[in-house]
Amino acid sequence: MRKQILSTLALVGVVALTAAGCSTDTADSDDVAAPGGGGGGGGDLITVGFAQTGAESGWRSANTESMNEAFSEENGFELVFNSADNDPAAQIAAVRSFINQGVDAIVIAPIVEDGWDDVLQEAQDAEIPVILEDRTVSASEDLYASWVGLDFELEGQMAGEWAAEQFTEPTNMVVLEGTTGSAPANDRAAGFDAAIEGTPIEKIDSQSGDFTRDGGKSVMEGFLQKHGADGIDLVYAHNDDMGLGAIEAIEAAGAVPGEDIKIITIDAVRDGMQALVDGKINYIVECNPLLGDAAAELVKAVLNGEEVAKTTIVEDQAFDQAAAEAALPDRTY
Ligand code: AHR
Repeated sequence: MRKQILSTLALVGVVALTAAGCSTDTADSDDVAAPGGGGGGGGDLITVGFAQTGAESGWRSANTESMNEAFSEENGFELVFNSADNDPAAQIAAVRSFINQGVDAIVIAPIVEDGWDDVLQEAQDAEIPVILEDRTVSASEDLYASWVGLDFELEGQMAGEWAAEQFTEPTNMVVLEGTTGSAPANDRAAGFDAAIEGTPIEKIDSQSGDFTRDGGKSVMEGFLQKHGADGIDLVYAHNDDMGLGAIEAIEAAGAVPGEDIKIITIDAVRDGMQALVDGKINYIVECNPLLGDAAAELVKAVLNGEEVAKTTIVEDQAFDQAAAEAALPDRTY
């Protein structure tokens, strides 16, 4: 498998070059609209069906914006956007609809890893190339052309390594997991767990908050009722939004987030970074959402018959309070 690493800076640079004059008019639609030209093309434009997970987080909004900017008419695309509202069956139905419409290519941000074999085979039989962005699938890599995304396991490992350094006394940790069955929830758990093995950090509870702020808040409320604020030392949230929900629950319980209960999250979107600067979150590992340009380049290359890397991993950084303070003014999402 050929593997390519893109640096954050390189990606941001490409985005800055292509962002001007972009069209974002399809981002809010929940429907699968028919491509303008029919039969797989709107004039000379490349028609691309994009099956997005939903709108569960600040990260997701930034990712959708990046995709809409990259797949603009100015860049030669007609983007047919579908948001599946975190429903795996609805997302597979959207991909089938793209196949029936005869789009030129399909881009998927898969909600969950499993269950993709049949529809990916159908796309291949229809000779429509599929590019995965953000998350990946458990199906054979022969069924898709390329994947551009993040190393979720490394993100979890970076978060766990920081925790292992900081918490050298017995520590009760609760985990706010991402969407059950999703690649980031699976891999961020595995990376973190491996990094804290043999440390005095004990995972006393773990439950899915579905990557949403409301989900993080209500799961944290349950943890606080069950263990009491005094019984929890550390929250590991698989994304910023759930961490921000946990902050609300901790404050409502009369405790101080970031002090009485420490919080580690993943994403590094502006709201999360602000909470880190404010001392309510203690550490954030980045997950870069600006994948649109890389995905658009892959689509064009695949349709031109060029050989492309099967996997493109975008690098992430990590932020403590001082690093967040320095980075926040220039943060674009
Ligand atoms: O797949 C990336 C994850 O999905 C982000 O961490 C999370 O915020 C989003 O919902």
